Amino acid sequence: MRTDTPQTVRLEEYRPSDHLIDRVELDVRLDDRETRVSAVLALRPNPAGEAGAALRLDGDEIDLVALELDGAVLAPDDVTASPSGLVLHAPPSRPFVLRIETRLDPSANTKLMGLYRSGGVYCTQCEADGFRRITYFLDRPDVLSVYTTRIEADRDEAPVLLGNGNPVEAGPVPGTNRHFAVWHDPHPKPAYLFALVGGRLGRVSAPFTTMEGRTVEVAVHVEPGREARAGYALDATLRAMAWDERAFGRAYDLDVFNVVAVSDFNMGAMENKGLNIFNDKYVLASAETATDADYANIEAIIAHEYFHNWSGNRVTCRDWFQLCLKEGLTVFRDQEFSSDMRSRAVHRIAEVRTLRARQFPEDAGPLSHPVRPRQYAEINNFYTATVYEKGAEIVRMLRTLLGADTFAAGMDRYFAENDGRAATVEDFLAAFAQASGRDLAGFAQWYEHPGTPRLSVEGRYDAQARTYALTFRQSLPGAPALMIPIALGLVGPQGALDGATCDRVRDGIFVLEMASDTITFENVEAPPVPSLLRGFSAPVRLETALGDVDRLTLLAHDPDPFNRWQAAQGLALRLMTGAAEPGTREAYGRALAGFLDTEALADPAFAALILALPGEGDVANEIGEGVDPDRIHAAREDLRRHLGAALGVRLSALRAALAEPPGAGFSPDAASAGRRALRNAALDLLAAADPETGAAEAAAQIESASTMTDRLAALAVLSLIPGAAREQALDAFGARYADEPLVLDKWFALQAAIPEAGTLARIAALRTHPAFSMTNPNRVRALIGSFPLSNPTQFARPDGAGFALVADAVLALDPINPQIAAKLLTSFGSWRLLEPGRGRLAREALERIRATPTLSRDVADIAARSVA
Ligand code: ARG
Ligand code: ZN
Repeated sequence: MRTDTPQTVRLEEYRPSDHLIDRVELDVRLDDRETRVSAVLALRPNPAGEAGAALRLDGDEIDLVALELDGAVLAPDDVTASPSGLVLHAPPSRPFVLRIETRLDPSANTKLMGLYRSGGVYCTQCEADGFRRITYFLDRPDVLSVYTTRIEADRDEAPVLLGNGNPVEAGPVPGTNRHFAVWHDPHPKPAYLFALVGGRLGRVSAPFTTMEGRTVEVAVHVEPGREARAGYALDATLRAMAWDERAFGRAYDLDVFNVVAVSDFNMGAMENKGLNIFNDKYVLASAETATDADYANIEAIIAHEYFHNWSGNRVTCRDWFQLCLKEGLTVFRDQEFSSDMRSRAVHRIAEVRTLRARQFPEDAGPLSHPVRPRQYAEINNFYTATVYEKGAEIVRMLRTLLGADTFAAGMDRYFAENDGRAATVEDFLAAFAQASGRDLAGFAQWYEHPGTPRLSVEGRYDAQARTYALTFRQSLPGAPALMIPIALGLVGPQGALDGATCDRVRDGIFVLEMASDTITFENVEAPPVPSLLRGFSAPVRLETALGDVDRLTLLAHDPDPFNRWQAAQGLALRLMTGAAEPGTREAYGRALAGFLDTEALADPAFAALILALPGEGDVANEIGEGVDPDRIHAAREDLRRHLGAALGVRLSALRAALAEPPGAGFSPDAASAGRRALRNAALDLLAAADPETGAAEAAAQIESASTMTDRLAALAVLSLIPGAAREQALDAFGARYADEPLVLDKWFALQAAIPEAGTLARIAALRTHPAFSMTNPNRVRALIGSFPLSNPTQFARPDGAGFALVADAVLALDPINPQIAAKLLTSFGSWRLLEPGRGRLAREALERIRATPTLSRDVADIAARSVA
């Protein structure tokens, strides 16, 4: 049984469960304050477990009402029950049935784990360990059961009742105002995939016919009146279903697929079998209320949760150390889907931006951990960028190493051999080793070692021999040499040097397997520029001696669009950190001007990315120590002003050329979004160079905008220009969307990001706004969570007030919702990069949290690791 003292769980201590639960029959009587759950569990000893062991069921904040074994009440000595567990000291050594009745209070559940209410809707979140808040159970992912769930509720309060699997039966409860529905899920699943929903919900739906000929009723459920905003999510679901058949050969396996949007949700969404539950931020969209980024996120997350039906549900995880097995793989799958739906190059750049902004800092700081951690105190703290994003990069490298066809064969094998099982990373890699006939033991090291490997590369040209040698060195402290796929080519002043060849490079890829290695290209006419790590073929930090002129060559001529973008980013970073050579600023401006003249209108989305400077966090990560956020901010502003001035005429012309034709209808497609992105990137730079004109133009765009993308982008530009116009625009926006919480979130976040001393007071005032609430995770993330991420100068103020604001919020949130509090606390993760004065203040804030009695395990764990 779990106790209240933090315990470390270790991978090496994994043991199969001593008991299994084959069938679960639940009867859930929904009630606002006192929900009753009757669970009938068909148990048996696990042949792989310890014979005669006690039965230890997990529990968390639940009350036991009744307990029967094979229909008989148990003697008091045979059982120990508490809110956090139930032990049967001498369970039968044959199959037996337990009936457990528990009582819980959904309205008091502000942790949003287990069964809770959101805006009047009953819903559940069971991953990772929320099912034990509903009934006593073997709440671990390697115990798979077939569930039948009867849900009963008041007819007016909850006319819609949804469960996992297929609907079996529904009807009134005679003599009452209540009704019930019975759902049966034929696919055995772990408890973390259980879900139910009861409430007043509107819906949009459409049929989908699978490649196996099954007709599926697909429905998206939202708050009544919001149905028109659910259309895009429904469309994305249908596209995801078709894509998984085409790209991975995976068909859906139930008669219904339900998506439900709720307003209070700890994460993005959850892949419960046949009943995905979503944060409504990732479902609801209209041109008036959602940005292009929102549409892209909805498409990606809808797909992500749907794809879990195979990578997560049909094949699940043996234990939580294997979390990347479902999350990394499913992120890879949703990235591929989005790339196919949109522009592959543009999407790859977006993926790498996220990886560098979130995962690289995590991996460089005190919260660094392997993609497969070996121990944890609180599993909910391991739903991290490392598990998700670096986990996806590992799968991507596997495909790069094996080639698309062998990778596909390996995936088929993985699904076939592990269907209905709880698998491990070893099972995953074994499928690819068998499909390819290759030894992947070296590759497996990617899962085991924390930190971002460094890859340094040196080139040497031999004019006489007309050869070019590249020497690679990898290093990751504490790790053996990793298998690193390096996509590369040589570029000259005219473009790719196709005549140059190297027998170590196959299909444009060299695989580095040793600590260092040298490869040589033949037939190299002139000193080339190496284009390395094309498409970001491995999650490493690349160190080269490339000069500014080399980077300008790549920006102009590299056939790989990712590396063209990378060259622009590299130049900007060198300019902002003072590493650039004299004259580079002007040359960079001229290169961007030439690029805009010839290419911007052909691919506006790509052009917008080329124009976007690395963020202040990227610069801090590049500097790596002794960081002063004010200096970074000033350097970045300086470069923005320079570019705005140097490119001004072109940017204005582009804005005109990209103007939305009057009366044109809205489309969220990638091409239309790309035009909006470039138009707004241009406004941003123009306003940096000429704030007065910029403010006027932004104010005009706020008025005339027909999309939230354009309105919010203009408001963001204006928010950086102090003055009455800004305050008026902010007030007007707040009033216009007073009844739109998801739009107010954008407004909260935008104000929290203003890099001015007055922002702390602004945040304090907004915390009293009627729409703000400490119990709603979206609100907290928008106003408080976004602050440290998007406002480095004010978070790391030299007086410590920014750290104090976040630390106070962590302590205020912890008793309400420990998961959200712990997530907020991870924003201190890069404190060691800061110059000593600020670093000391950050540490003091962390120590103050650590010294607080009665911390949740979630917050205590992050605080302890952050200062260790
Ligand atoms: N499995 C969900 C997803 O696909 C995340 C659920 C995380 N829940 C939690 N309590 N940590 O991303
Ligand atoms: Zn997931």
